[in-house]
Amino acid sequence: MSATNETRRPVPSDIRARKGGTPLVVLTAYSTPIARLVDAHCDIVLVGDSVGMVVHGLESTLGVTMEMMILHGKAVARGLRRAMMVIDMPFGSYEESREQAFRNAARLMAETGASAVKLEGGAHMADTIEFLVQRGIPVMAHVGLTPQSVNTLGGYRVQGRGKDAARIMADARAVAEAGAFSVVLEKVTESLANEITRAIDIPTIGIGASAECDGQVLVVDDMLGLFADFHPKFVKRYAELGKAAEEAISAYARDVRSRAFPGPDHVFGEGRGK
Ligand code: KIV
Repeated sequence: MSATNETRRPVPSDIRARKGGTPLVVLTAYSTPIARLVDAHCDIVLVGDSVGMVVHGLESTLGVTMEMMILHGKAVARGLRRAMMVIDMPFGSYEESREQAFRNAARLMAETGASAVKLEGGAHMADTIEFLVQRGIPVMAHVGLTPQSVNTLGGYRVQGRGKDAARIMADARAVAEAGAFSVVLEKVTESLANEITRAIDIPTIGIGASAECDGQVLVVDDMLGLFADFHPKFVKRYAELGKAAEEAISAYARDVRSRAFPGPDHVFGEGRGK
């Protein structure tokens, strides 16, 4: 069943129970108006740290702060009524220790109203995931291409080719065993995504992975054609809103310069309400 038919907001155990069922629909959102648009159609709305690149023009997600996540998380929460909200832990907010991770995860949830956090990393984060889950913080894990590790991975390359596959499989198993309620598989080969999806008992949510994953996530600005800096192969553009916006802005500029705007409908006369 999709979120659109649910009468209450899904909780992490509902998401976990969707393993092998109708695919989970996940999109990112960073603002109230977009949250309102995606709410009825998504099971999960992710306040992704991709906000740094998509909204703030950063070159990577490494410069995203707790304050940015909280600001955007609060905005998204105001637009959601039905979908579950998950918020990303930004780079540097959870890697140092389990205690640091708990402190920042609790703050993100308390200040934004998110139901869960997402953090990047596999086997080496399993201890932290277990610590958070045991203390009431549901965790969505994220393995494969983990953009916060772009400097150690050496770029945004496809993960899981050759002997890398065993490591990523081990990462997925480790986060599932640690208690994550779902795991994002980013930019891994299709065959590896299929193997992982069959091997673990929590939903896999693919981005550049496989249609056989238990769900799919995209960055909303990418699929709407609003973010034009680059076009990853795994993004299907469902609209070209960037182009439409450009045409509208250019028409406005033309109208202002030619004094066609404002027209009679956009100005006020002396009479009340006119
Ligand atoms: O930050 C983000 O938007 C993400 C998704 C791409 C999974 O992590």
